[in-house]
Amino acid sequence: MTVPTHVAIIMDGNGRWAAQRGWPRIKGHKAGVLAVERILEAAADAGVQHLSLYAFSTENWKRPALEVGALMALLRMYLRMFLHKLAKKGIRFHHLGSPEGMPSGILADMKTLEEATAKNTGMTFHLAVNYGSRLELAQAARRCVEESLRPDQVDEAALQARLWTAGVPDVDLLIRTSGEHRISNFLLWQSAYAELYMTDLLWPDFGPAELRAALEDYAQRERRFGGI
Ligand code: FPP
Repeated sequence: MTVPTHVAIIMDGNGRWAAQRGWPRIKGHKAGVLAVERILEAAADAGVQHLSLYAFSTENWKRPALEVGALMALLRMYLRMFLHKLAKKGIRFHHLGSPEGMPSGILADMKTLEEATAKNTGMTFHLAVNYGSRLELAQAARRCVEESLRPDQVDEAALQARLWTAGVPDVDLLIRTSGEHRISNFLLWQSAYAELYMTDLLWPDFGPAELRAALEDYAQRERRFGGI
């Protein structure tokens, strides 16, 4: 079976999962973290080399302060608790997103995790936190100017090399849970030729069997990259 090299997931539906049970939204996010843990392991076992998970977008700051605070606290806890799990699986960690406006403690934790897992040779886990694709593209363009590139030097390769995903292969398979059919400013450049897989399942209900179904579906697709 052809396994996608890079899988990206828009993990949606935590709030609705909690609401269906009459619980506060944060309980949905907690269940979402458990799903992250299961999918990390399942993706690594399946032979995926890059897994990008959309945990917090640049637009998510607009959510109520209580929810933002709770999500940041969860993230902090997660980063500390799961270090040994990543190490055990040989997974490398990479923060995908802007450091600007991020709580310094979380940034420090993510840096520690990146450094501690830098020598691992298994799958790379890109956690998108404070990530927005348009912001990523704008900062890549700004860097071209700062580095005084001539107009004829500003091409696709120049921009690609200045994205936060520099050196990472394009997304092969983009999954979104919870029945929404949107890309929501996630990896727009990198997903130019990605195969899309949308499922009605809410993120906390998305497990290894569902990942397997998505990978099997992907393996049946015929990719032409604009050719015939
Ligand atoms: C979307 O569900 C989910 C998010 C905005 C956050 C995703 C976060 C996690 C899975 C947990 C945090 C992850 C880590 C690694 C700490 P939603 O709240 O938009 O759900 P709704 O659309 O049903 O309201």
